[in-house]
Amino acid sequence: MLLLTGASGLVGSALRRRLIAAGVPLRCLVRDPRRLGEDRVRVQIALGDLADPPSFRNALRGVDTVIHLAATIRDQPQGSIEELSGIATWRLVDAASRAGAERFVFFSALGAGTQSRARLLRAKALAEEAVSASEIPSIILAPSIIYAPGEAYLTLLGRLALIPAVMPFSGRGRAQFAPIWVSDVADCVMSALAQPAGNARYELAGPDVLTHEQIVRLALRSLGKRRALLHVPIPVVSATLALTERLMGQRAFATWDEAELMEVSMLSAGGTQDAQRLGVRPRAMASVLGVS
Ligand SMILES: NC(=O)c1ccc[n+]([C@@H]2O[C@H](COP(=O)([O-])OP(=O)(O)OC[C@H]3O[C@@H](n4cnc5c(N)ncnc54)[C@H](OP(=O)(O)O)[C@@H]3O)[C@@H](O)[C@H]2O)c1
Repeated sequence: MLLLTGASGLVGSALRRRLIAAGVPLRCLVRDPRRLGEDRVRVQIALGDLADPPSFRNALRGVDTVIHLAATIRDQPQGSIEELSGIATWRLVDAASRAGAERFVFFSALGAGTQSRARLLRAKALAEEAVSASEIPSIILAPSIIYAPGEAYLTLLGRLALIPAVMPFSGRGRAQFAPIWVSDVADCVMSALAQPAGNARYELAGPDVLTHEQIVRLALRSLGKRRALLHVPIPVVSATLALTERLMGQRAFATWDEAELMEVSMLSAGGTQDAQRLGVRPRAMASVLGVS
């Protein structure tokens, strides 16, 4: 039995479909089964929450492999980014070890580090340490920014592009990314699962190195929109988004923690090397978005 957390998310949805198609017995730890759509009848459901460690024990019964995708880039009422994306991983890997799981697959992030300016990247660094220190053989995947047509960030850019003539844009946009398509990421995970057991770490990067500004320009081209970029100074962005989050809570369209992530480069020195080691040749973002 394989336990998948984050099965309703961007990566989780693509991976869930592959695991079901491959006939892997699958249990999903979810807060709300409806978020799995029709697949909720094709998998076992374990109701659980990263903020509720006792829910892990039930979910782990009879599980040999855990794929831990669930994480959050914004604070939730039940827990902070640090608790849910950092400490919860330590608790889950500990519970998996006690339950006798034989393999733990964890999604970290390129750029994760205890000194990072971004809260999520500091939490991911600690989580990665906890997974590496565990006695369960682990596969750590550290992706750059992951995208798919219609996912949350491209959708947000699409909404901002409804503003006529200009596109408001956080900061200078100079941080660099190697965007990787979610289908390529899911293929990498399937291939990593087929490798002989043992500890491994893969950095998942797409073939282009693009600044944040170049990504926004590419997204605008894919939407057929021509807009002048309006660079909003970071102090203005952080103050505005902090206020928005305070007023709107979970309904805020963006948070400062999310915007700050786009200020930190997420590159792999090996480029697409690790993905190719897994037999995946990641596609260029322009080709996935249908931009010539
Ligand atoms: N997307 C990227 O660009 C990127 C880059 C680097 C690393 N990563 C990492 O890759 C992994 C997958 O990313 P993703 O983009 O697929 O994430 P995502 O789309 O944001 O999905 C997050 C998943 O975590 C679940 N989740 C959130 N809070 C939870 C909680 N308190 N308890 C239980 N489940 C909870 C969500 O469930 P609900 O449906 O209930 O909300 C959802 O299934 C994450 O660990 C992420 O940090 C992503």
